[in-house]
Amino acid sequence: MTTHKPAAAAMPGADYFDQWYADMADSTSRDAIVARMLGLPAHLRSTSLLTWQGIAELTDRLQVPRDGLLLDIACGRGGYGIEIAHRTGARLIGVDFSATALRQAESAAAERLPAGQAEFRVGTLLETGLPGGAADALMCVDAVQFAEPPLAALHEFRRLLKPGGRLALTCWEAVDPDDPLVPPRIRAVDLLRDLTAAGFADVEVRDRPDWRQAERTLWETVAAQPEPDAAMRSLQEEGSRALETFGSLRRMSATATAP
Ligand SMILES: C[S@@+](CC[C@H](N)C(=O)[O-])C[C@H]1O[C@@H](n2cnc3c(N)ncnc32)[C@H](O)[C@@H]1O
Repeated sequence: MTTHKPAAAAMPGADYFDQWYADMADSTSRDAIVARMLGLPAHLRSTSLLTWQGIAELTDRLQVPRDGLLLDIACGRGGYGIEIAHRTGARLIGVDFSATALRQAESAAAERLPAGQAEFRVGTLLETGLPGGAADALMCVDAVQFAEPPLAALHEFRRLLKPGGRLALTCWEAVDPDDPLVPPRIRAVDLLRDLTAAGFADVEVRDRPDWRQAERTLWETVAAQPEPDAAMRSLQEEGSRALETFGSLRRMSATATAP
């Protein structure tokens, strides 16, 4: 049996992400290109790689009731949670450790949702600061890999959900968890193992090669953008790293139910 223990690597902290979000707010081109490539409307500010079709799938799988409580953990600028709250009528609480992102999420929610339907709070993937057993549904888009370890975040997610509450996650996994080319934080992700270990029921983990293909098209498109500003440069660097190891990662979508 092979054992796998990814090397420790410093995770980007809140200061790093505050600057990342400030650069995005200053960028003239970044959001328009990402929205076009992911098929998103211009008002939906993504800082990840979930497509418009992916939002429909998450909405369907979360099954959040109208007036239920939806949590978006590591919500960033809030775009995806706000869209699902808009579609379902659910109350939304978004949590992230970047206060800069949350200020941007607040303005986005004010444009898209009735007053009082959404609120945003500073918290971490492991310590959200929210009461337990209150949420009907919880989403975490392209962020659980930042938890140290991801299993601890999944325990926190389970604590937050009511019995029967639904969880939807998107992320990446290594094709080979021993592949040194894959960043350690991705090598640490094993959604089937960890959702089961965290005590979730109805665990379904799906490989999404079609989403991965959309990601490749985005990276190839941003690589060709001339005169990049700071946000576009950051996206180009991320894309260049992603394309170098493209075949070593799988795009994953997972759902589960709190017992
Ligand atoms: C790739 S972005 C995804 C944001 C958002 N879910 C989206 O899809 O647009 C990752 C997010 O995780 C947040 N994050 C990273 N580590 C975190 C932590 N330990 N606790 C809370 N948020 C964290 C970052 O601030 C950032 O907003």
